[in-house]
Amino acid sequence: LIHQNSYLVDGELKPWSGDSSEVYSTISSTEIYKPTLLGTIPTLGEKEALEALDAAVNAYDKGQGLWPTMKVKNRIECMEKFVTQMKTKREEIVKLLMWEIGKTLPDSEKEFDRTVDYIYDTIEEYKQLDRDNAKFEKNDGVYAHIRRGPLGVVLCLGPYNYPLNETFALLIPALIMGNTVIFKPAKYGVLLISPLLEAFQSSFPKGAVNILYGRGRTVATPIMQSGKVDVLALIGNSKSANALQNQHPKSNRLRLVLGLEAKNPAIVLADADLDLAIDECIAGTTSFNGQRCTALKIVYVHEDIVDEFNKRFSARVDALKFGNPWEAGAKLTPLPESDKPQYIQELIDDALEKGAKILNEKGGKTTENYIFPAVLYPVNKEMRVFQEEQFGPVIPVLSFKDIDEPLNDMAESNYGQQVSLFGSDINTLAPLIDTLVNLVCRVNLNSSCQRGPDVYPFTGRKDSAVATLSVHDALRSFSIRTFVASKDN
Ligand code: G3H
Repeated sequence: LIHQNSYLVDGELKPWSGDSSEVYSTISSTEIYKPTLLGTIPTLGEKEALEALDAAVNAYDKGQGLWPTMKVKNRIECMEKFVTQMKTKREEIVKLLMWEIGKTLPDSEKEFDRTVDYIYDTIEEYKQLDRDNAKFEKNDGVYAHIRRGPLGVVLCLGPYNYPLNETFALLIPALIMGNTVIFKPAKYGVLLISPLLEAFQSSFPKGAVNILYGRGRTVATPIMQSGKVDVLALIGNSKSANALQNQHPKSNRLRLVLGLEAKNPAIVLADADLDLAIDECIAGTTSFNGQRCTALKIVYVHEDIVDEFNKRFSARVDALKFGNPWEAGAKLTPLPESDKPQYIQELIDDALEKGAKILNEKGGKTTENYIFPAVLYPVNKEMRVFQEEQFGPVIPVLSFKDIDEPLNDMAESNYGQQVSLFGSDINTLAPLIDTLVNLVCRVNLNSSCQRGPDVYPFTGRKDSAVATLSVHDALRSFSIRTFVASKDN
């Protein structure tokens, strides 16, 4: 059990003896199902939230604070000190990833290692940015020394599906660019931040990073309402992002760095390599139980091959092993949100009522903390599973005759993150790719959608994202170009 009884504000681990909230895993540690108590976290209130805000504002000190003015070399030293300490916590954090969010052991290890790599890559990119900043430009007789400066105070909120990696994909670039940060861990995946509190405290100057616990509404609202936040950095849902943005009294001043919902389609053309398409669609729809913003959330298959696809795909889904995250070969694991099976069931019921069938035998079978992915076919636009981002184990399949059918759906969709396109004739694929890149931001050719490698831009159109995250882009998203101009060099 982890009893987190402090929070990090102004460089101090402040002891907390007020109310606390219990953190449970939906994974049972007993044979008769019972959620497992993992620990407790402080239930902080408005007072502590504003304390953290003051600490971040003071540490930024109108851009004159120790952290925003620190030399690049020293800022890198702080970040290296942090990541060195973080590496010693691998085992503990991997274990918490498994228990708190039900991520498989290999994926939990990958999340940890990917985050460490991300920090080192960010340091290298920051050094490169510094080298670029050292250059002078001359245009029309005016010399300019262009550099990148911090934006101010960042409120950082990460998602439960990557509570370490995606949170750090916001926090680390925000920090290294000289911003000061207030960070509230995700609801699930909150305890895994505990092993890092001391590393944060000892690596960065006071007030540069402040870590709060509690309900988003209670702690994030007063922070936003203060009008003192310069950047809202959030990966999660647009409802929370919009609410927080609207709480800011001068929201047009607020910079947004947001990763939001997506409904990434797979489009399987008639000439696709079916084995490959099925392999990739299995990975895309079911990895981490579909709880990835980049998951394939709708599958379009050409009518000539849809029967064959459905038969083989459904059998492959049924062959996936459900188990606890540490069990060898487990691909499907308990869902951290206890109400998710019920929600997925509602989507399935709605689709069945409107004419779809479950193609796979195990589809829709529920246990206390899981619902087995149902392959639904034929899905139509009236169904909730067509319209909503399911973010969980249910797989809607549609057939199409004309490629304009999926393309029109994508054009009408509120989302525009990625697409997976399966086909083999380059003469068909090339013009299609040109169309697709104007509907989404990444076209994955004969492969499922994904964010990585992390050097590639991670973003989206429409309601899917604001700003771009990647090792390269995030440093730019969390900073502004400033320059000194002179007629003399
Ligand atoms: O939840 C969205 C994640 O950014 C997906 O990342 O493609 O590496 O799983 P991933």
